[in-house]
Amino acid sequence: MASFFPLACFFVSICLILSQSNAGKIAIYWGQNGNEGTLAATCATADYDFVIIAFLPTFGNGQTPIINLAGHCDPYSNACTNLTSDINSCQSKGIKVILSIGGGAGSYYLNSTDDAKQVATYLWNNFLGGQSSSRPLGDAVLDGVDFDIEGGTNLYWDDLARYLSNYGKRGGGRKVYLSAAPQCPFPDYYIGKALQTGLFDYVWVQFYNNPPCQYSSGMDSLEKAWKQWNSVPAGEILLGLPASAEAAGTGFVPAGTLTSTVLPAIKGSAKYGGVMLWSKYYDNGYSSAIKNAV
Ligand SMILES: *[C@@H]1O[C@H](CO)[C@@H](O)[C@H](O)[C@H]1NC(C)=O
Ligand SMILES: *[C@@H]1O[C@H](CO)[C@@H](O)[C@H](O)[C@H]1NC(C)=O
Repeated sequence: MASFFPLACFFVSICLILSQSNAGKIAIYWGQNGNEGTLAATCATADYDFVIIAFLPTFGNGQTPIINLAGHCDPYSNACTNLTSDINSCQSKGIKVILSIGGGAGSYYLNSTDDAKQVATYLWNNFLGGQSSSRPLGDAVLDGVDFDIEGGTNLYWDDLARYLSNYGKRGGGRKVYLSAAPQCPFPDYYIGKALQTGLFDYVWVQFYNNPPCQYSSGMDSLEKAWKQWNSVPAGEILLGLPASAEAAGTGFVPAGTLTSTVLPAIKGSAKYGGVMLWSKYYDNGYSSAIKNAV
């Protein structure tokens, strides 16, 4: 692509098309702070390609699954069903809306392959292309499921990925995108094995709260971890970062440093997919500042 670029740029329109096709995407987590604006407003910024709804923190081992969207809405009174219009609005803009299961403070683990199957069926019927009379986010059909597994055990996540993926492959079924948010030390304890299934479309790796592999330890450390993550049989790998210094304990990279130093070093890798940010509440100008360089 690079060698054709100067030639193509004689024709301004072609040049634009080529430069856009090369661009990475921005994924943002939304849902854990009621003061971060609505989902529809988040999508209306046009800064994001993915919005990841956080979280479904309770599921597995026979527990009744329950979402937690902080101050946005009360799932116990079914008030989150009114997010359906926002989800539809996001999707009409070409933004993928994904449900994140797990999180840093959840109560979740899978006790068997059969438990994984039951959770997959629950997710399909309640958030994806299946049917249920008690869909927590209403009728909107989400684009996929994000595995943000940071606790519990490391078992049966590969089974959950397989069951979910198979639901998406059924006749006429809409594809179920799978993503994951592992920590940057490689391999990830909780979902390292699940990622080896090759079923994940997007892996946004948390290069924050993980000093050994984040930018603050030097570009060598970051690049070493980045290369390791690019060996995973997944569609695209994204660099996960805090959207501001307050968004994480460590790992924030100022926008200027990211665009001048970090992105140029990783963008050439075959699986580079862009940048993931935690989270909308903290994104006060960061995504728009980096967008043209991602
Ligand atoms: C495992 O999870 C299933 C639900 O999938 C539940 O019915 C069962 O009681 C659990 N088994 C144990 C031993 O906790
Ligand atoms: C959904 O309802 C809650 C109240 O439960 C409200 O705060 C929120 O703004 C509503 N969202 C939409 C998209 O209508």
